[in-house]
Amino acid sequence: MVKRIYCFEWIIALGFLLLVAVVSSKNHGNQANDLVDLINKNRTSKRLPQLNNSPGLGCMAMQYIKECRFNCSQVNTVNCKPSEDDFTEIFAPNCGVELPTFGTISGLIVGCHQKHLDPPEAFQNVLVHNNGTLSILRNRTHREVGVGIIRAKRHKGPYLWCALFGSNERNSTFVLEDLGKGIEQKEGCYSGSGSSCSSGGRNGSFVWMLIFCIFVLSSTGFF
Ligand SMILES: *[C@@H]1O[C@H](CO)[C@@H](O)[C@H](O)[C@H]1NC(C)=O
Ligand SMILES: *[C@@H]1O[C@H](CO)[C@@H](O)[C@H](O)[C@H]1NC(C)=O
Ligand SMILES: *[C@@H]1O[C@H](CO)[C@@H](O)[C@H](O)[C@H]1NC(C)=O
Ligand SMILES: *[C@@H]1O[C@H](CO)[C@@H](O)[C@H](O)[C@H]1NC(C)=O
Ligand SMILES: *[C@@H]1O[C@H](CO)[C@@H](O)[C@H](O)[C@H]1NC(C)=O
Repeated sequence: MVKRIYCFEWIIALGFLLLVAVVSSKNHGNQANDLVDLINKNRTSKRLPQLNNSPGLGCMAMQYIKECRFNCSQVNTVNCKPSEDDFTEIFAPNCGVELPTFGTISGLIVGCHQKHLDPPEAFQNVLVHNNGTLSILRNRTHREVGVGIIRAKRHKGPYLWCALFGSNERNSTFVLEDLGKGIEQKEGCYSGSGSSCSSGGRNGSFVWMLIFCIFVLSSTGFF
């Protein structure tokens, strides 16, 4: 009987730790937002204005690389050319971008890598790795930006990154329906959304918390 009560307590404790792990990974897990910060830091270092973080652009950036997910080569180049029409016919509807608010896209950078990279490495080695992409980043026309990250396959495969820039003055473009929530995405990760990255960014803290829980439980003779 005593043993059974302890067991019950441990299940409560484990559940609580898991909850903490899930919540904390949600709060820290959006690497697409980190990339937007890096883009803005790089711009302000050249006295260029900061760009607004647009979830509508971010989600469409993610849709773009979703279409290109199997087109990352062994040497980390993306050989993929979605049609222009896909933006209004596929990407925007999949995100819940309200079509009348579809603005002007002023730049696009796409890259991939066989391994997961943290935001500073992804910025330097994948997104902004040459003069061409650096000049896109530093274009004066942009006003807003969105970043998307996705994994080619659910549990493995290369990662893809995409930054989409818009040149619209006001904040009323690429508006997501349902009061800015848009359509929930089942995978990947994009900037400007309050939510976490699922398969786009690694949920490191969650895995470590789980290992920690198992360690605690086994060291107390639970198993
Ligand atoms: C991806 O690569 C395949 C094979 O090389 C090609 O047929 C396809 O058109 C590419 N996808 C896009 C969207 O460009
Ligand atoms: C900046 O972007 C705009 C829109 O894409 C383009 O027309 C223009 O040539 C770019 N300017 C530079 C300096 O690259
Ligand atoms: C901006 O990005 C470029 C390309 O990755 C890099 O060479 C440069 O050092 C960066 N500048 C700053 C201030 O971070
Ligand atoms: C890139 O730009 C820098 C500075 O403008 C220049 O020194 C360098 O030669 C350029 N590199 C290439 C490969 O064009
Ligand atoms: C656009 O929204 C951002 C925050 O989302 C805000 O900081 C910025 O001032 C807004 N710009 C305009 C022109 O309303």
